[in-house]
Amino acid sequence: MTATSSGQKLFAKPLINLCYLRSFHYFLEYQALQTLSALLTKSNLRSARFSRENLTILAREIRELFESDVQNILNSDLPPRLLWTESPISHLQRLPKIVSDGIDLSLRRRRRQAHEFSDEAQMGLDKLPEYYRRNFHFQTDGYLSEHSAELYDHQVELLFAGAADAMRRIVLPDVVEALHSYADAASKQIAFLELGCGTGAMTRNIHLTFPHARIVATDLSVPYLEMAKKRFSKSSTSRNRQIEFIEANATQLPFKDQSFDAVYSVFLFHELPREVRIEVIREARRVLKPGGVFFYIDSLQLGDKPHFDHVLKNFPRDFHEPFYLNYIDVPMHDLVESAGFELLATRFGFLAKGEVYRGRKI
Ligand SMILES: C[S@@+](CC[C@H](N)C(=O)[O-])C[C@H]1O[C@@H](n2cnc3c(N)ncnc32)[C@H](O)[C@@H]1O
Repeated sequence: MTATSSGQKLFAKPLINLCYLRSFHYFLEYQALQTLSALLTKSNLRSARFSRENLTILAREIRELFESDVQNILNSDLPPRLLWTESPISHLQRLPKIVSDGIDLSLRRRRRQAHEFSDEAQMGLDKLPEYYRRNFHFQTDGYLSEHSAELYDHQVELLFAGAADAMRRIVLPDVVEALHSYADAASKQIAFLELGCGTGAMTRNIHLTFPHARIVATDLSVPYLEMAKKRFSKSSTSRNRQIEFIEANATQLPFKDQSFDAVYSVFLFHELPREVRIEVIREARRVLKPGGVFFYIDSLQLGDKPHFDHVLKNFPRDFHEPFYLNYIDVPMHDLVESAGFELLATRFGFLAKGEVYRGRKI
């Protein structure tokens, strides 16, 4: 055994256990919130509970995800800082707002009300695509207020028991490899384009993995883009000037043909109607340089992990996701390949799937 591999083994276990501990903390927070909401909205407490069998599957899948995330970081020389997304103090400071918003969200879900907006969120609503003007997941203000943007990352981690950011990273080693063979990173600055960047969680992963790259991160939501900018302004370095946040619709990007070496999105496609998914992939192809890399990470689809098919089918029952059933039924691979891409890698991690493609030479 080499010195490096024994060093990696030494660090792997404590890191995996820390991830697991963090995940357990999110799981407990989620259970407490669900119970509180069920009591306040006088709904069935049983629906907030997991069966023992489901808990065992959940725990096993999450552990496998963390094991492979930590191994990827240690084996591919990715920075371990990827695992440290925020301090426990910031997390705890946000908790009162999470609890109060969790109750509002449950009441909205009970009323099945998915078109409810504050005055702030109403502004400019009519300029946005029709499919987008809604409270996705029944979340307060959809994607359209500072309040929603402030709580978003925490709420996503609650939903996935603290595994969301690890899911975002499942194809990172494949992306590193694909871009390595595309361009000599030392001699050329890689330009990334992110579609639907939200509050910039994946932008951070890409920035830490490719510290010399230029990243243009885009989204339809101005408050989410502002939150993403804040994330980077906290640790302001000269390198952060290589990151730009731009308001843009992924179906009509304000960039010339062949402007980027890599284009990617995370958790975007499952929220789009089928025809919009096709338009976004076509736009990605247009702005990608010949031989460039396209990748996405999103929900599993039917048949990817058959034991989770029932979970996928039930997901839109409790979370307002009107296009999700169509998303899980129409293989992303078919849509992406028919837009002129060749598949390089497919990975699964817990409830996520990631695929990496290269644009076919025209
Ligand atoms: C589920 S969130 C994912 C955010 C982020 N990528 C993440 O990993 O958490 C979906 C994001 O896609 C954005 N979005 C939806 N439709 C879009 C479109 N047509 N163009 C650009 N962004 C869009 C939303 O505003 C939201 O920020």
